[in-house]
Amino acid sequence: MTRKIIIDTDPGQDDALAILLALASPELDILGIVAVAGNTPLSLTQVNIRKICEVAGRPDVKVFAGCSRPMMRKLVTAEHVHGATGLDGYDLPEPVMPLQEGDGVDFIVETLRREEPGTVTLCALGPLTNIGTALSRAPDIASRIQEIVLMGGGYFEGGNITPSAEFNIHVDPDAAEIAFTAGMKTTVLPLDVTHQTLTTRKRVAAIRALGTRPAEVAVGWLEFFKRFDEAKYGIEGGPLHDPNVIAYLLKPELYSGRLCNIEIETSSELTLGETVVDWWGVTQRPKNATFLRHVDADGFFSLLTERLALL
Ligand code: BDR
Ligand code: CA
Repeated sequence: MTRKIIIDTDPGQDDALAILLALASPELDILGIVAVAGNTPLSLTQVNIRKICEVAGRPDVKVFAGCSRPMMRKLVTAEHVHGATGLDGYDLPEPVMPLQEGDGVDFIVETLRREEPGTVTLCALGPLTNIGTALSRAPDIASRIQEIVLMGGGYFEGGNITPSAEFNIHVDPDAAEIAFTAGMKTTVLPLDVTHQTLTTRKRVAAIRALGTRPAEVAVGWLEFFKRFDEAKYGIEGGPLHDPNVIAYLLKPELYSGRLCNIEIETSSELTLGETVVDWWGVTQRPKNATFLRHVDADGFFSLLTERLALL
C-alpha cells in the first residue's frame, strides 16, 4: 500500500534531492508539492520545485505556491548557502509545467479535509509557515493528519543559522510553535541527524556513476551545496538535510531517537527559533514529538543512490 504525502518545501539543493527521492519511490503517493518562502523568496522556490519535477520527468505533479513570508516576521533567506537561485550548481531551463492555481495553504486544508482521516503525511522541508497557517485557518485538520515528519531544529548539535537555532525553525518560530503544540504525531529530523549524512567524495561518486541525467543534475547540486559547509565545518562533504525526511518514511529502521517534549523559543532575540528538547525528561511537559538522533548514514546513501537510479 502506498503512503499519501504532501511535501512542503523551499528548494534548496537538499530539498531537491528529497523531492527526487520521493518521486523515485513507488511506496509514496505525492498528492502535491507546496512551495514556501525560505532558502529564497517564494517566487524562486515555486519555480525550483517545477524544475526538479521536470528533471525527474514528472510534469504531472501538482505544484502550488504557499506563503511568501513568515507568519509574524520578516523573511530571512539563505542565498549564501544555496546560491542566488536557491538551486545553483546546474543550469536548468525555465519550467514548462504549470503552477497550480489557488493557494497552497488552501490545498493543504482541502486535501486533509477530503482524504480519509489519518491517511495523509506532511513532509516539511522548509520553514513551517504554510503548515502553521493551515492549522490556524483550519484547526480541525490537526486531528486528520497521519503524521508530520519535518527537517528542523537541533539540540546536541546546536544551530546553523545562529549558534542555537536551525534555519527552518528560526525563519518562522511562530509557525513552528503552532505545529509543535497542535497535537499531531510529529517526527523531527534535526541537525543532530543530518550532520551525520555527509556528501563525501565516495558517496557523490556513486551517484555520478549512475550515469543518468537526473544523477548528473543531482551531482551538480551536491557539489555546489557542500562547499559552504565544508568550509564552515572543516569536513569532507556537506550535511544532506532534507532527504532524511523521505528516507525516514521509506526506511525508519535507519533511524533512532526518542519521544520527548520539544518547545520552540519565540521571544528571545538571542536564541530565537531554538528547539528546546527535553531529551533527559527533566520536566513534566507533555511528550509532543519524536526527536531522532542517530542515522545509519551508509544505509541512507545506499537508499538514495538506489532510488535515484530508478529515475
Ligand atoms: C535546512 O535549511 C535549509 O537551508 C535546508 O534546505 C534545510 O531544509 C537546514 O537547516
Ligand atoms: Ca529546505
